[in-house]
Order: sequence, then C-alpha cells, then structure tokens
Amino acid sequence: MTDFFIGFIIHVVFAIFIKEAFMSQSLFGLLPDKTPVTSYKISSGTLEARILDYGASLQGLDYLGIPLILSHPNIEGYLEDTTYQGALVGRNAGRISEGKLIIDGHVHILAQNNKSCNLHGGGKGFDKQLWTVKGHRADSIELGYHSLDGEEGFPGAVDITVCYTIKGSALHINYSASCTKTTLINPTQHTYFNLSGTKSSILNHVVRIDADSFAALGEDFAPLTPTLVEGTPFDFKSPKAVGRDISQPQPQLQLAGGYDHPFFLSTKAPQITAHSPESGITLNISTDRSAVIFYTGNFLKDRFLHRQGLCFETQECSNACFHPSLARGAVFTEPDKPYTQHTVWEFSKI
Ligand code: GLA
Repeated sequence: MTDFFIGFIIHVVFAIFIKEAFMSQSLFGLLPDKTPVTSYKISSGTLEARILDYGASLQGLDYLGIPLILSHPNIEGYLEDTTYQGALVGRNAGRISEGKLIIDGHVHILAQNNKSCNLHGGGKGFDKQLWTVKGHRADSIELGYHSLDGEEGFPGAVDITVCYTIKGSALHINYSASCTKTTLINPTQHTYFNLSGTKSSILNHVVRIDADSFAALGEDFAPLTPTLVEGTPFDFKSPKAVGRDISQPQPQLQLAGGYDHPFFLSTKAPQITAHSPESGITLNISTDRSAVIFYTGNFLKDRFLHRQGLCFETQECSNACFHPSLARGAVFTEPDKPYTQHTVWEFSKI
C-alpha cells in the first residue's frame, strides 16, 4: 500500500513537472468582467512562443533565447491596444472602403472604425475576442472562435480555427474557417517583428519581397490600384534595407508615412525574407496567400518606438471586395467551400 502510495505521488509530481516544463500555461490577467485570460507556451527548445486566448495573440516569440516580437506585458496593454500587437485579426485584415461589403448585389454596412473604413474587422474584431482553446500540446495549440451572423456588420456566422505549431525553428500558422452564408473571411497575423531583439528601430532590417506589383492606397488608406514596383521605392525584389528609400518624397510613402501597402506575391516560397544585420537572425515567410501587407510600424508611439516593428500580414489583398482589380482569386467564402490559409515563419541565424 505504501509502495503504491509513493509510486502514485511520484507519478503525479512527474506529470506536473512534464506539464510545467513542456506544456505550461499561466494566468495572464483578467478581463473587466473577471474572466481569466491564459497564456500558453509552445516550444521546440530553439523556438518558443507564448499565445493568449485573448485575440489568439502571439505575446512572445523567442528564437535561441532572443525575443523577436513586440508585445504588451499585461492584459491592460491588450485591452487598450490600438496597434493590434501579435493579434489574429479578422474577419477581414486591412481596410474596406466606406465599410461597404457588396455580395451578390446586396450591400452590407460594416462597422466603420477607421475614418470611413472598416479596419481589421471592426472595433471589436477577432483581436478583441476571447478564443476557446481546443487543444494544447508541447509544440502546438489550436484555438477557435465563433463569430455571430451580423458581427461588426458581416453576414453569416463564422467558425474559425487557428493552429500554431512549432517544428524546429519554424512556426506554422494554419487557419480554417466555415460560414453559414457567403461572406468575407480574410484573417491574418499582425505580429510586429524586430529581429534585433526588440529594442531598436527596424530601419536597418534587410527585406526581400518577391512581388512585381503592389497596391497604391487611396486617400482613405485603403488599397486602390495595382501598380508595378519597378523603378519605385516599393521594389523589394532584391534585398534592401527598409530605411533605404522609406523617406523618399514619393506620394505613396508620404501618404502612409512609410510602407503600409499590400504587395502581390509570387507563388515561389519563401516569398518574404527579413534579416537583422545586428543579430544575424533571418526570417523567411512562406504562404499560400496571394498578398502581404508590409507595414513598417509607422503609427507606433507611446509604449513603443516609431518603427520599432515590422508586420508581414499575409492575406488576400484587402478591399478586393470594393475594387475587383485587386482580387487574385476568390474574394468570398461560401458555406460549402471552407476557408484555409497556411503560412510559415522560419528563423535561422548566421
Ligand atoms: C495595419 C494597418 C495600418 C495600421 C495598423 C495598426 O496593419 O495597415 O495602417 O492601422 O494596422 O496601427
């Protein structure tokens, strides 16, 4: 009996140790209604991520012990946040002009949370929702969210799942979603990378984007016109420092205060590379989406430095529902054709 009891205790202690060491989760904070927000760790040893059930947000990403993304240290930061730190944004990532969604001739008026535009799904988009954890293992986590029919003006209920999985030095992000009515499902991950260890500006990061064209923005900042990159500061086909051309007196750069534009990607992965000469760390991004919004943190201030982080928001070009010339495939998701996205961030160091 005593042997059995000791064996049982050892088993329990060992199980707790394993859970803490490899599958740890901890209380991150409380929402105003006292609902707990939990932080979940996933890791391969070389790459470690911390994910919140609030916004399915990436709150930490360390490679070889070096922090590579911006974040808030507490839940208050996320509740007050207007910069979408590490968040999974949706239903639609980016801006929709006039907050107007036209499907089969039917006009849906969306929440207009950025001047006249709908930005990142509205004022209470996926980033401001508590997601349900469906599974958590040492190297992966799956979270789900049920978005109601009519939420922020979008038609149809949507069930979305995101799975973050670490394999070696890569983070795989898999999205899948289904809807009850034809609707727009175009989420992305809004993490701000700083491959130098998060403290300095990203202007020295060397970036390559395999894209022949980008979308020029309209006065409302929403994507408007496909434009060739050749001969413009938007040509990142060969690697160049972000700061090299960012201050050129080019109307699109001046309008957005830097880069904040969709680029139309080639299908040859990895389509995007970013490198910090300071740390020697490189990020390669492969995606099955046709566009990425390359955003240089032009609005970062207060808790963050101006241009302290870079976002690579893989998606279908936002505003394609308003300007069909921006579409590179199906714009809408239908009830019998679920949405999927697969994007991989792979890190290496010289
Ligand atoms: C995006 C937009 C930017 C800005 C940030 C949030 O990625 O493209 O214009 O609104 O989100 O600050």
